[in-house]
Amino acid sequence: MEKKNIDWGNLGFGYIPTEQRYVSEYKDGAWDEGKLTTDATVVISECAGVLQYAQTCFEGLKAYTTEDGHIVVFRPDLNADRMIDSARRLEIPEFPKDRFIDAVEKVVAANEAYVPPFGSGATLYLRPFMFGSNPVIGVKPATEYQFRIFATPVGPYFKGGVKPLTIRVSDLDRAAPKGTGNVKAGLNYAMSLYNIVDAHNQGYDENMYLDAATHTKVEETGGANFLFVTKEGKIVTPKSDSILPSITRRSLMYVAKEYLGLEAEEREIDVKELPEMAECGLCGTAAVISPVGKIVDHGKEICLPSGMTEMGPVTKKLYDTLTGIQMGRIPAPEGWIKVIK
Ligand code: PLP
Ligand code: COI
Repeated sequence: MEKKNIDWGNLGFGYIPTEQRYVSEYKDGAWDEGKLTTDATVVISECAGVLQYAQTCFEGLKAYTTEDGHIVVFRPDLNADRMIDSARRLEIPEFPKDRFIDAVEKVVAANEAYVPPFGSGATLYLRPFMFGSNPVIGVKPATEYQFRIFATPVGPYFKGGVKPLTIRVSDLDRAAPKGTGNVKAGLNYAMSLYNIVDAHNQGYDENMYLDAATHTKVEETGGANFLFVTKEGKIVTPKSDSILPSITRRSLMYVAKEYLGLEAEEREIDVKELPEMAECGLCGTAAVISPVGKIVDHGKEICLPSGMTEMGPVTKKLYDTLTGIQMGRIPAPEGWIKVIK
């Protein structure tokens, strides 16, 4: 298969339409059989549930070319499960897990020419999403939906690749206790846009959200979970019911314990503990692990000892091990890698 003529090494995190995408429609209480299509547009009513009341959720996962030339996807079963949780919370009919995984396989196989080569630093990002498509004007769930997956080749989420980021402690909140922070609802991202634009305007790369009830506990950023390394070399990550259960973070906690023999704990993290941390990273499918060099808490600068030029040593080990597993250089735990071809 001849690859597309794309400058893989210089890709950012943007949308490049690929040849085929998957679509299945829900009507009269059932999903249709679904199909691949070359049509990258969606035509829906002006009064569609998604447009009026933001009835939509999404997922993100990646396909990789391994060292030995296979194309693989990382833990798509967990994305399927999480999308079911998101759909339930938003009164969207569930898309069955086996069909989700099958659709992922179909989209990757159909866009093989867009899967970046091994060693290019790029990957094929897959974006499953679901939305209410028929008219609703009273506040209620739609009765018709679409489930779609498109693919787009991407490079690093943050400009500058692995250059440590500067983030600020946010005054605005992302997710209420018992709200929708633990699912991947489009609305969680819509309400973060004002704050990310403001952060960028003030010279920060991202916002650190705190728990909305007390503003004392670290939660997550707009698009990634936190991992910290304490000065004793222990991995800690925030425990909260209002953050997205990141698949990358769950995988890294396993890698820390089982591959690197590190102590790793999920617990509440007080913002006052930040000066005690040796390293900090943002973890997610798009972010992989992006190192944080500085956290600014209302004018007080917390400079991580790992500095502003490189990833900290423990973060680097975690990064190398996880990406090694994803790219087939390091044996994966059972079930983590789905081989497409
Ligand atoms: N937190 C938020 C708010 C996200 O949008 C994402 C991205 O999916 C993550 C965390 C990381 O989750 P995952 O590792 O499953 O991609
Ligand atoms: C992902 O990491 O897949 C996400 O959905 C996060 C988003 C900010 C790009």
